[in-house]
Amino acid sequence: MKHSSHSYSRREFLAVAGATGAGIGLAAAAGPANPQPVIPRAKPGQQRVFGLEFPPMDTVRIGFIGVGSRGTGLLGNLLETDGVRIKAVCDLVPDRVKSAQRQVVAKGQPEPAGYVKNETTFEELCRRDDLDLVYIATPWDWHVPMAVSAMRQGKHAAIEVPAAMTLEECWELVDTAEQTRRHCLMLENCCYGETELLVLRMARQGVFGELTHGEAGYLHELRDYLLTDSSATNWRRDFIATRNGNLYPTHGLGPVAQYMGINAGDRFDYLVSASSMEQALSRRCAAIPAGNPRRGQHFACGDINTSILKTALGRTIVVQFSLVLSRPYSRINLIAGTSGTFCDYPPRLHLDGQAEGWTTDLQSYHEKYGHPLWKKLNDQALASGGHGGMDYIMNWRLIQCLRDGLPLDLSVYDAAAWSSVVPLSIASVANGSAPVAVPDFTRGAWKDQPPSPLASC
Ligand SMILES: NC(=O)c1ccc[n+]([C@@H]2O[C@H](COP(=O)([O-])OP(=O)(O)OC[C@H]3O[C@@H](n4cnc5c(N)ncnc54)[C@H](O)[C@@H]3O)[C@@H](O)[C@H]2O)c1
Repeated sequence: MKHSSHSYSRREFLAVAGATGAGIGLAAAAGPANPQPVIPRAKPGQQRVFGLEFPPMDTVRIGFIGVGSRGTGLLGNLLETDGVRIKAVCDLVPDRVKSAQRQVVAKGQPEPAGYVKNETTFEELCRRDDLDLVYIATPWDWHVPMAVSAMRQGKHAAIEVPAAMTLEECWELVDTAEQTRRHCLMLENCCYGETELLVLRMARQGVFGELTHGEAGYLHELRDYLLTDSSATNWRRDFIATRNGNLYPTHGLGPVAQYMGINAGDRFDYLVSASSMEQALSRRCAAIPAGNPRRGQHFACGDINTSILKTALGRTIVVQFSLVLSRPYSRINLIAGTSGTFCDYPPRLHLDGQAEGWTTDLQSYHEKYGHPLWKKLNDQALASGGHGGMDYIMNWRLIQCLRDGLPLDLSVYDAAAWSSVVPLSIASVANGSAPVAVPDFTRGAWKDQPPSPLASC
C-alpha cells in the first residue's frame, strides 16, 4: 500500500515506528517516575481552537471517505438527520461507492459524486469547493492524512476512532487544526451513550464527590472475526500482528475523560502499560489446517493490555484492551469519587449513605439526571440504530452544533490525548512498563478551559 508522500507505505512506517518507539520519546520513558513531555513549538500565528465557532449554516454539505461497514452506518444516520446534504463519496472499492450513492438517492437527495481511482483520490474529494465537512471512516493508518488534507482544503474533519496511531500524527492533527482553524473531531460515539451521558451529568453535578479514579476498556471477544479473511478484518489483524499495546483505547476512555474534565482543568500526565502473553489467537492458528495462510501465524499484541494513566491532579485511570479474551463485552465505564462509584456492565451505583452493595435500579437517577438529548431523540435514535442509538445522537448533535453555529463537544485536543494511548502504551510495553509522559497537546491551556458543553446541552 503506497502513499504518495512517502517512499514506503504508511502501514510499513507505522509498524517500524511501533516496533522501535520512533518519535515516542523513549528517552522520557526511561527517565524519572514523572517524566516531562517534549512539546513541539507552534508555528507563528498558530492559535488554539478551544471553543471554535462558525456562523450558523442552514445545510451541512458532507463528503465521505470510506464507506465500508462503519461508513455505511454513519451515512445511514446522517441521511436520517435534517439539514444534511451528502455531496461526494470516496472508497477504493467501486461497488461500495455505488452502493453509498444508491443509499443517498434512495433518501431523495441528488446522486453524490463518486471517487474511486486509487488510495490518494480522497485528495480530489477534499479539493471540492462545495463541502463543509469531511467524514473519515477508513482503516486507522489513513485517518490523519485524510483529516489533514480536508482541513488544509478548508473543510472540517470528523474522524473515526482512534483518530491517530503515533504521537507525530496526534501533533499533526493539533497543529493542522490550529493552523487552519478548522474543527477536527473524533467520532467517539460512546460519549453519547445513554448511560455515559447520565453518568456525565451526575459527575458534573457532584453526585460522586471529587472524582479520584476511573476505569475504562474495550473488551470485545472477536477471535472468529479476526481470523476470517475479509477487507475489514485483514487490516485490523495486521495491526494486532505487529504492535503490542492498547490499539483501541477511546471507546472506554473518552467518556471517563469527559467525566474528569480532561483538557478542561485536568490532563493526562503519564502512563504505564503492560500486556499479557499472547496465546488466544496463535493457539487457534496452530490448529488451522495446512494450506490456510493463517496456519501458524503469531501476533505481537498480548491477549490483554492494561494501562494506567495518572492525571495532573493526581487521579488514576485504568484502561484495558482485549479482542480475544473469552468473556462478555464490556467498556467497564467506572467512575469513583469521594462520595460514590458508578460501574457499568451491568450499570450499578453505590453512594455514601446507601445500604451496602450496589443499587441496580437506576430509574430515579434517569428521571433526575437523564440527558435531554436522549429524552428528546430517544425514538429516532433507536429507530435509526447504530450501537443502541448513540451513533445517531452523536451525528445529530454534530450537525446541530454546525447548523446553530455552536462550538463542538469534543476538541482536537481530546482526539489527540485519547488516541495518544496507542503509541504511549506500545512504548511503555516495549520498555518494561516504564512510565511514558503524555504530551500536553493543549500547550498549557488545559488549566483554564471550561468543561465540554456536552453535559449541559
Ligand atoms: N465508532 C465505532 O463504533 C466504530 C465501529 C466500527 C469501526 N470504527 C472505525 O471505523 C473505521 C473503519 O472501520 P470499518 O469497520 O468500516 O472498516 P472497513 O474495512 O469495513 O471500511 C474501511 C473502508 O475504507 C476504504 N479505504 C481504505 N483505504 C482507503 C483510501 N486510501 N481511500 C478511500 N477509501 C479507503 C476501504 O475500501 C473500506 O471500504 C476504523 O477507524 C474503525 O476503527 C468505529
